[in-house]
Amino acid sequence: MKHLLSIEHLAKEDIEHILKRAGTLKKERGNHSKLPLRDQTWAMIFSKSSTRTRVSFEVGVHELGGKLLFLNANDIQLGRGEPIKDTARVLGRMVHGAIIRTYAQSDYSQIPTINALTDWEHPCQILTDIFTFQEKRGPIHGKKVAFFGDGACNVPISWIFASAKLDFELAISAPPDFQPSIELIQRSKGNITVTENPDEAAANSDLLYTDVWVSMGKEKEAVERLEKLKGFQINSGTKALAAPDALVMHCLPAYRDKEIAESFFEEHADTIFDQAENRLHVQKAILEWIVCR
Ligand code: CP
Ligand code: NVA
Repeated sequence: MKHLLSIEHLAKEDIEHILKRAGTLKKERGNHSKLPLRDQTWAMIFSKSSTRTRVSFEVGVHELGGKLLFLNANDIQLGRGEPIKDTARVLGRMVHGAIIRTYAQSDYSQIPTINALTDWEHPCQILTDIFTFQEKRGPIHGKKVAFFGDGACNVPISWIFASAKLDFELAISAPPDFQPSIELIQRSKGNITVTENPDEAAANSDLLYTDVWVSMGKEKEAVERLEKLKGFQINSGTKALAAPDALVMHCLPAYRDKEIAESFFEEHADTIFDQAENRLHVQKAILEWIVCR
């Protein structure tokens, strides 16, 4: 049984397969010769808010011939304390797979499971970001990706594991309290630098990337986070240090004039919304990979 729970545990050849198939599925949208989810029902169990992930999976499962049940975790017995493992056992008797958005990396091993964001990783997002980069600039191999902001949350952690797998440089610029641990960096075996100096990270980079400063579940820390992270905004000054054709991406939702300057966001909106659209194509490739390979 296959799962997609993290970039850390996804083999390089599987990443390459998913990225390649995403390109084909994007071209063939509306005209798929095979419907790999035909007669399948998948469940999506979300404990956190979502726009992109929810809509792209709902549309994607439908376009691959399947049906999707959206279950807000608070509306099912999980929200009243039924153990995850029992929920998974029940789902395993009825549905073909689960797409989960939650806090801890949960154990749904009874059924094929896709991590649609946990506190630890956001693998569907980073696969999409790499797909989008490669669609516009060719292989990411040997390039430099610069991440700015909360360097210890799910999005940069997935970037960290992707760096070694696809052999690109990753520079993370974050204040000390928001840097990934040395143990994590070493475990990834990637070519990764962590710095408090945003200019150092930006220098000659091929991709400038940021994420929200207050991730879901961290709302109580908002005031402290906004204060500590305010020097890590990406804007035209950051771009001036990057490679001339550097791309700018944001996983969204974006908080203007916090992690990204408003005018800078709008200047790069075409790339950012291509990135959002590509969630659909990449996740269709993930679903197909889970059921077909
Ligand atoms: N980027 C992302 O995962 O967006 P949503 O939270 O809207 O799903
Ligand atoms: N780090 C963010 C990602 C949102 C897509 C969060 O967890 O809220």
